[in-house]
Amino acid sequence: MIYLNGEFMPIDQAKISVLDRGFIFGDGVYEVIPVYSRRPFRLAEHLARLQSSLDAISIANPNTNAKWAELVGKIIAGNPWEDQNVYLQITRGVAKRDHAFPKGLTPTVYLMASELVTPSAELMRTGATAIVLPDFRWLRCDIKSTSLLGNCMLRTLAAEADCAEAILVREGEMTEASASNVFVVKNGTVLAPPKSQLILPGITYDVVLEILRGDAIPHEVRPVREAELRSAEEIWVTSSSREVLPITTLDGKPVGKGKPGPVGVKVHALYQQFKARVMRAPAHA
Ligand code: PDD
Repeated sequence: MIYLNGEFMPIDQAKISVLDRGFIFGDGVYEVIPVYSRRPFRLAEHLARLQSSLDAISIANPNTNAKWAELVGKIIAGNPWEDQNVYLQITRGVAKRDHAFPKGLTPTVYLMASELVTPSAELMRTGATAIVLPDFRWLRCDIKSTSLLGNCMLRTLAAEADCAEAILVREGEMTEASASNVFVVKNGTVLAPPKSQLILPGITYDVVLEILRGDAIPHEVRPVREAELRSAEEIWVTSSSREVLPITTLDGKPVGKGKPGPVGVKVHALYQQFKARVMRAPAHA
């Protein structure tokens, strides 16, 4: 079951106008909210990031947070899986094709869910593969925009190289990956690039930093040079669906010893504990 503009319906009955600016220009923003045991994880943070994305492209938020929570709850209840990815998209709406943002449109609001499948135990044991590619996307990667052509091209280049992810470098510094944030471990210290307009402020990135702080694991938030990425002992990618996934092969070469390193294994375990703790806490309005 999906939600479109005020109504719940089966996905094959959903229809939007071909003049929707989301279709014509990619003029919209989105969120992907992980749901464990039918409870959304970090919903308030996802809704705050949604507000920032909407503000950045001047779309008025069509719903209050309470209304969003209600819609997300109904989508979760209307779908069969215990663990879900709830996808939420807002476009500027329908208008005659003209680049500048028209005023006064009614935004198109869409929610759907899919099964959330986190990395298997086997993948966590072996780690995943990645390639390094130049970050040729635009300079507002902080906006969670549905205009994802750059990300799609980069992920396709990774897939064609039999890799799970493309780790991106701009002017000699690591930014993020095609659909995840990146952490590296260098000389025993975890390094994370600071938030800027060049990366998406990941919700999982924030959780990982909370874990690093909470467990006093040595870490620094600072620019990461390409050379540090290439000589790192450990590399992890983080996202709502991949959680904390070790990268053990980079450009065909082993990362560290070529298997998941101790810091990442520990942070992944702490992430699972963190999730379990939050999901056990009483639900709040
Ligand atoms: N992607 N960077 C990019 C470019 C992303 O697309 C994502 C998430 C992240 C991680 O953000 P978070 O921790 O909030 O999931 C970083 C989602 C899952 C997607 O587009 O499907």
